[in-house]
Amino acid sequence: MATSRIISAQSQSPEEERQNWSLRPTRIEEYVGQHELLERVRIAVQAARERKEPMEHVLLHGPPGLGKTTLAHVIAHEMGSHAHCVSGAALTRASDLVGTLTRMGERDVLFIDEIHRLPPAVEEFIYPAMEDFRIDVTVDAGMHARTVSLTLKPFTLIGATTRAGMLSAPLRSRFGISHHLRHYTPEELGIIVRRNCALLGMTDADEDALDAIAHRSRGAPRIANRLLRRVRDYAQVRAEGRVRAGVIDEALALEGVDDLGLDELDRRYLRTIATTYKGGPVGLEAVAATLNEDAGTLEDVVEPYLLQIGLLARTRRGRQLTHEGARRLGAPAPADLAPESDADDGLPLLRAEP
Ligand SMILES: Nc1ncnc2c1ncn2[C@@H]1O[C@H](COP(=O)(O)OP(=O)(O)OP(=O)(O)O)[C@@H](O)[C@H]1O
Ligand SMILES: [Mg+2]
Repeated sequence: MATSRIISAQSQSPEEERQNWSLRPTRIEEYVGQHELLERVRIAVQAARERKEPMEHVLLHGPPGLGKTTLAHVIAHEMGSHAHCVSGAALTRASDLVGTLTRMGERDVLFIDEIHRLPPAVEEFIYPAMEDFRIDVTVDAGMHARTVSLTLKPFTLIGATTRAGMLSAPLRSRFGISHHLRHYTPEELGIIVRRNCALLGMTDADEDALDAIAHRSRGAPRIANRLLRRVRDYAQVRAEGRVRAGVIDEALALEGVDDLGLDELDRRYLRTIATTYKGGPVGLEAVAATLNEDAGTLEDVVEPYLLQIGLLARTRRGRQLTHEGARRLGAPAPADLAPESDADDGLPLLRAEP
């Protein structure tokens, strides 16, 4: 399964989330990267605190493992309030939310994860809650059924989604702040890895080794944390606890992960385009059929990183290897793609078309 890949940005188990919990930043100052977003949050939090109002509703969208849930908790902490977490997938009826909403204190945060999965009935139910801090609840049943309006304490709704496109326009328009989280640079991941190293008590790790982890983490702090734990285990058992750069390669080679953080599925995907489809352009469905993988999975878990590091391009005519992608595979150069610039920061060389 794609989620069991060591370099998957999706969470792999509740146990992993529990371990990540202790590595989670709790204050804005500890939250690495996402500078524009943090600046907006800082201003909104301060303004709200000065007015003694809740902060505006926030919508966070972006790939998994980049810190949406973490930021929701950071915001609650900065507001001096509590975060109440629910998942859009688990809310089937409006009544599922009544208890949480009425329990919430003044200026608390209601965090709705996977908010794109809210059923329409629940979505409509929360509109008045978002706008006027009021909900309409049906009491009694049958002949005696009537609707009463309950007033809520002013709160902040923070919604998170990996699929912003699936949100309805009315819901989206009710958020004061809407922000896309971007992948982290290797430098930012380096800061996170170093901080977490200290938290895990790994005091004598080599600088090179930590940079190597940051470079293989595919822009996602969740992957960085996972690789760090895996390398710690490997070093303890096979290298007398010494985390050296060579140890990273050995530990990750066991998982089939190379120096760019690519695993076997990424490489099979690239090789298929290079050999079966002569570098492309080729439709996603065709690649998926050849690989015997689900197209949606490839689109969600394989392509984003390959696009980000410029090995793959998405054109109107389909997927295509870039010059860099072809060079890496030792395949012939693709015909009609302009050569990319030689950026060395691991940031996108070529972006996906929307
Ligand atoms: N900016 C950051 N600075 C430091 N660590 C971070 C940052 N963002 C995330 N992390 C770490 O990465 C882990 C995963 O982040 P988080 O659970 O917030 O991701 P997410 O965007 O909510 O993912 P999903 O879409 O799967 O819910 C966190 O537990 C935390 O340890
Ligand atoms: Mg989350």
